[in-house]
Amino acid sequence: MSTRPRISARISAISESATLAVDAKAKAMKAAGRPVIGFGAGEPDFPTPGYIVEAAVEAARNPKYHKYTPAGGLPELRQAIADKTARDSGYQVSADQVLVTNGGKQAVYEAFATLLDPGDEVLVVAPYWTTYPEAIKLAGGVQVDVVTDETTGYLASVEQLEAARTERTKVVLFVSPSNPTGAVYSPDDTAAIGRWAAEHGLWVVTDEIYEHLVYGGAEFTSIAHHVPADQVVILNGVAKTYAMTGWRVGWLIGPKDVVKAATNLQSHATSNVSNVAQVAALAAVSGDLSAVAEMREAFDRRRKTMVRMLNEIPGVVCPEPLGAFYAYPSVRELLGKELRGRRPANSAELAELILEEAEVAVVPGEAFGTPGYFRLSYALGDDDLVEGVSRIGKLLAEAR
Ligand SMILES: Cc1ncc(COP(=O)(O)O)c(C=O)c1O
Repeated sequence: MSTRPRISARISAISESATLAVDAKAKAMKAAGRPVIGFGAGEPDFPTPGYIVEAAVEAARNPKYHKYTPAGGLPELRQAIADKTARDSGYQVSADQVLVTNGGKQAVYEAFATLLDPGDEVLVVAPYWTTYPEAIKLAGGVQVDVVTDETTGYLASVEQLEAARTERTKVVLFVSPSNPTGAVYSPDDTAAIGRWAAEHGLWVVTDEIYEHLVYGGAEFTSIAHHVPADQVVILNGVAKTYAMTGWRVGWLIGPKDVVKAATNLQSHATSNVSNVAQVAALAAVSGDLSAVAEMREAFDRRRKTMVRMLNEIPGVVCPEPLGAFYAYPSVRELLGKELRGRRPANSAELAELILEEAEVAVVPGEAFGTPGYFRLSYALGDDDLVEGVSRIGKLLAEAR
């Protein structure tokens, strides 16, 4: 018998998506009849706007869209994405700088696969979204964490980034608004980080998928304005802005050589994104932003309720998130305390206990590189949100 491992070392090293795992467990408990409230999902609870769905229905009936189309995306969608980028962030690109991908996730993978050689270092601000480490690892890159906490609202400073920079640093990953923390960098801080990256010749990969979900006085600005155009890659998609997570359309914008190389990769891996979904995305990005304005209003209301309720729970500290749809409270004060006959030592164990005892699903900070925290999505109905956080509060009040 062969002694060679059945699964390659590269792929064995990839862990299951912790956010999807929590969601799956909560859904399975729900299907078994238990009244679980899930704060795990990273998706809007709204349906996709009707005019976008209608465009897709029409496309499905058009034989033109039943065939292969260019791997890099429908030309009209690439142009519309270039136009939308100029409209929303004032950043000018041409259609041949756009690659349409199967969701933002594929854009993340292709960006790192295209930029990194083995040993190249990527600066990643922790807490970070759980997909980045896997994409960096698979490309042979080395992730260097720049750890932040609630005391700075999870914002990294130029000094922290500079302290982590080495001769091998090639890329700095910039995510604002952030998943999982909801942190949003001010225009000044964004500019300062961009200028620092430019000064050191670093590439900037900027994930702008939550650009339209900012609250209070926060303002989204693209770091691309502060970095040379030949060293910046923008990742984005329709999932969060238009409640289109299931349609799987994202994109990567970059210098032409990067886009060409990433398109070559995609042409062998997946070819064109489903034409029906691309036409839906075309309707989305060429339409107005009224649907996201409505969602933003609902998210903002839920955000305030959630943060207030979380901070009322003894031992929970939650800075105000200013973007995306997540709260990221610290639960460190509760660890090691006795609760329902157990003594959870870390946030993963505490999350497990909350799921079993209060029937509420949260994602532990272990998934985002910072144990001791929870991520709670507020993209769920107001009543469920209040009920869910109340249940957590009642249970945690028993901790001794
Ligand atoms: C920060 C961030 N980037 C990218 C994505 C990718 O989204 P999708 O692949 O659904 O387009 C997500 C989804 O959760 C995200 O949170």
